[in-house]
Amino acid sequence: MKVSIIGGGGRVGSNAAFALQCAGLVTDIQILDANTDLAEGEALDLLHGASVLGDQRIYAGDYDRAKDSDIFVITAGLRRKPDESRLDLINRNVSLFRGILESIQGAGHKSCAKFFVVSNPVDILTQLAARTLQVDPKQVFGLGTMLDTARFRALIAAELGIATSQVKALILGEHGDTMVPIWSSATAAGLPLKGFPKVNPSFENMIFERTRGSGAEVIRRKGGAGWAVGATIAETIHAVLLDKKQILPVSSVQNGCYGIRDISISVPTIVGKNGVEGHLEVELWPKEKQAMLKSASTLKDTYQKVI
Ligand SMILES: NC(=O)c1ccc[n+]([C@@H]2O[C@H](COP(=O)([O-])OP(=O)(O)OC[C@H]3O[C@@H](n4cnc5c(N)ncnc54)[C@H](O)[C@@H]3O)[C@@H](O)[C@H]2O)c1
Repeated sequence: MKVSIIGGGGRVGSNAAFALQCAGLVTDIQILDANTDLAEGEALDLLHGASVLGDQRIYAGDYDRAKDSDIFVITAGLRRKPDESRLDLINRNVSLFRGILESIQGAGHKSCAKFFVVSNPVDILTQLAARTLQVDPKQVFGLGTMLDTARFRALIAAELGIATSQVKALILGEHGDTMVPIWSSATAAGLPLKGFPKVNPSFENMIFERTRGSGAEVIRRKGGAGWAVGATIAETIHAVLLDKKQILPVSSVQNGCYGIRDISISVPTIVGKNGVEGHLEVELWPKEKQAMLKSASTLKDTYQKVI
């Protein structure tokens, strides 16, 4: 499988490339960036590790060379400033993003290619991609709340002093201020988190506020997120590559799940070789469902401003 990372010279794209390289599952990683020197440099640096990590083909290139890609990952864009909301980024990133979609279409792509949006505001840009690219909407998805979910799990585990991989808890909704913590189904090692002695409403509030503030905290401390977002990008790509039918909180255009339609947002989504293979409407607490509807309506309002 060939993965092309547009914006791959940047922090998120290059960290995703490294996560893909470490896993050794994709065959080709192409780095594409408006800054061609940076793309060449990152590709070269990754390639230098190939004898240690795996026999993948890693190179920089343009849209013409990318047209045989199985997955286009779009990480190009501008970062949030520390106090800026993701939605405020919209005007700065939408025209840049439209230009990228035009370049992909202009050069051509496989009819079955998948388009994986990471740039922010990710839900809005995923919706824009699904409406612009002339492919089945199943082939278009965004990182959504994958990173928020990973952060949520890590913070719960650290606070309870238990193994992170055993914590299963989701953030759904917008990748942004209206994200929704799903405590109703949160478990650790198959046990409901609600039954853990430390887990009470103030614990839940504290964890969620730290999760929601994590992006801004990382930006303030190191300039931008990289490693964890790279790991979640790789996890999503591997779900497609290995046809895992993995349930992931990726963002995709909705057609009725939880009463949400015509906007891209994160719900529990089955990801496999065709991309988005289904949405699961598993029962949530009424307040969680309400929060999902509010998140969707916030995104719809914003999307109206960009079309
Ligand atoms: N969805 C998520 O969970 C998530 C998490 C972290 C960051 N992000 C988003 O990812 C994006 C990238 O963040 P970053 O920290 O890597 O930024 P960065 O500045 O390090 O990298 C962005 C890269 O995009 C390139 N670029 C700009 N315009 C381009 C164009 N038209 N074509 C090709 N390349 C272009 C730049 O040259 C740069 O190398 C931002 O929008 C950020 O908000 C999303």
